[in-house]
Amino acid sequence: MITQKKRANGFEYIHVKNSVAEAEIALQGAHIFSYKTEENLLWLSETSVFESGKAIRGGIPLCWPAFGMNNPQLPQHGFARTMPFELIHVEEPTEDVTLLSLRLSDNEESRSLWDYHFELTLRITLSNRLKLELTTTNKDTKAFTLTQAFHTYFAISDIQNIHIDGLEGKPYLDALEQSQKIQQGSITFHREFDAVYQDVEKTIRLIDTNKTSTISTQGSTSCVVWNPWIDKCSRMSAMQADAYKKFVCIESANAYDDFKILQPQESHTLAVTFTTL
Ligand code: BG6
Repeated sequence: MITQKKRANGFEYIHVKNSVAEAEIALQGAHIFSYKTEENLLWLSETSVFESGKAIRGGIPLCWPAFGMNNPQLPQHGFARTMPFELIHVEEPTEDVTLLSLRLSDNEESRSLWDYHFELTLRITLSNRLKLELTTTNKDTKAFTLTQAFHTYFAISDIQNIHIDGLEGKPYLDALEQSQKIQQGSITFHREFDAVYQDVEKTIRLIDTNKTSTISTQGSTSCVVWNPWIDKCSRMSAMQADAYKKFVCIESANAYDDFKILQPQESHTLAVTFTTL
């Protein structure tokens, strides 16, 4: 069942429920801010605001058309996460699968920031796994460069309890030291962590005490792993001081040297599938 809802301040979102999953998706940013099967996949800040023009803290922000400060002329992580998408397609093929598509096209505001005609579509498949396909089409007469990410905030029992497998031996940019390193073994967390992994082709596993989530990505060879730890967390907007213990971001991306150049009429799809076991 799909229900279009509004919070008291008019902020619009979609509530989806089928026989195996339940989710909430804001029209602003096509932002999935909750997805639950028997497990809860996503972390959402208790102090997140749901306001027009402000990014939701948690869930799956879409960083687009620039990841981080890859394009210094744009706001950090681009503008899609604070722009209204339209719901263009809904389908319930079986009782345990729901499909939705949301679209953002260029508009006066986007062109004032980034002067290109484009179409951006997020296709969401909700079942006992969550599949996202983000397709960018260049509708302009000139080529553009794209960096992007699903900036997924995973809910965890405690940052000290988790480890991440699947990135062993991979080169990465340590964004805190601005130096290139090689990942030795699993990733564990003992301090602020901000890294762009490269040459990523395998499924990544987030292993917690009572659950394991898997992340399989197509259309990308980069993945950002981030936790702000104590000091940065206390400085961040819409985040409680100890929030860093309760999430880790594993961001399926086209970032750093994994950027895409799209020629006129060309499309690119970044896709990710999450499962929780
Ligand atoms: C991560 C970056 O992807 O996003 C971090 O690597 C950044 O450096 C974080 O702090 C959160 O960004 P924002 O804009 O949502 O506060």
